[in-house]
Amino acid sequence: MADALLSEIDHFSQLIGKRRLTSIFFGGGTPSLMSAGTVEAVINRLIKNFTVSDDIEITLEANPTSVEAAKFSDFSKAGINRVSLGIQALNDQDLKALGREHSAAEAIAAIEISQKYFKRSNFDLIYARMGQTTAEWEKELMKAIKMANGHLSLYQLTIEKGTPFYGRWRQGELVIPDEDLSAEMYALTNHICAENNYPAYEISNYARPGEESRHNLCYWTYQDYIGVGAGAHGRITVKGETYATEQNKKPETWLKSVLSRGHATKISDPLSRTMMAEEMIMMGLRLTKGIDTKVFEKRIGLALDTFIQKERAELLKAQGFLSAENSDLFQLTEKGRPLLNQILGQILV
Ligand SMILES: C[S@@+](CC[C@H](N)C(=O)[O-])C[C@H]1O[C@@H](n2cnc3c(N)ncnc32)[C@H](O)[C@@H]1O
Repeated sequence: MADALLSEIDHFSQLIGKRRLTSIFFGGGTPSLMSAGTVEAVINRLIKNFTVSDDIEITLEANPTSVEAAKFSDFSKAGINRVSLGIQALNDQDLKALGREHSAAEAIAAIEISQKYFKRSNFDLIYARMGQTTAEWEKELMKAIKMANGHLSLYQLTIEKGTPFYGRWRQGELVIPDEDLSAEMYALTNHICAENNYPAYEISNYARPGEESRHNLCYWTYQDYIGVGAGAHGRITVKGETYATEQNKKPETWLKSVLSRGHATKISDPLSRTMMAEEMIMMGLRLTKGIDTKVFEKRIGLALDTFIQKERAELLKAQGFLSAENSDLFQLTEKGRPLLNQILGQILV
């Protein structure tokens, strides 16, 4: 697997040339199951193949089990300088209900260890969980803010089709907060985080100014990224054309393909200007600051309102879902942000 990852890195660096690498993100699956040796080999190959900026951000997503936390020192020596922990909840009962293997005690210990070895860190929590009250969430959130080190990802529980949760929810075995309660919890989350200097910079992401995830901002501001590994996705611009890439998803198939042809790219489709525009709008409206229309025009080559239904957008502005404050920015209001999907359905041409 390690050699195959290095081959795929070589493949993409040959494709796009020696460009400036600003961030690396080990996402998954569960990257904290990797050996520190593989992490180091991947980082060293990327540093060899690209021009690396001094303040490069290198994040690893990790599970907070004690076994994986014991590897944090090795990951830090391997070059990781930011860790993102999948904590999910701070009590054992809910962790069990969410099907997680770690305990609340392990989670808190992992947060402390992560802050010992990594200058920057984040942890994820899921809220609007089964049977959770607003008061319980407020108490847990205040505890999280006290433990955090500059960044929090706070996700509202969603029931995803094709997951065991979905089956149980369909059977009525799983009761989650209704829309009104979820909206109340979302508003409370934004309010408490803002009050504690963790303003929302994206729909589910909160950070002290300067602590935003640089890697994820690359997605939300529609910049290029290469996707290496089983099931990875990428957006790469070669000779002025932007391609959507996708690697084989099944690790066995991915490995076999890399061993036979040096990479496992299943899809590499050139994107039309309209597709790029829609993606940039979909990603950019997730950000609190929205989309800089000049940056959009430079990236896409046409003005943003070429790709939206102007009358509908004006109506949404009048109704307070889209901001009318700054004409250089296309952004949602706090009222509009939880309705992003519906609004996209209305404004995209
Ligand atoms: C979205 S990624 C985390 C990205 C990371 N926070 C970052 O900033 O780069 C995986 C996280 O999604 C969240 N998640 C997984 N399943 C979910 C679900 N059904 N509903 C809501 N959040 C979920 C969990 O918190 C999990 O740790």
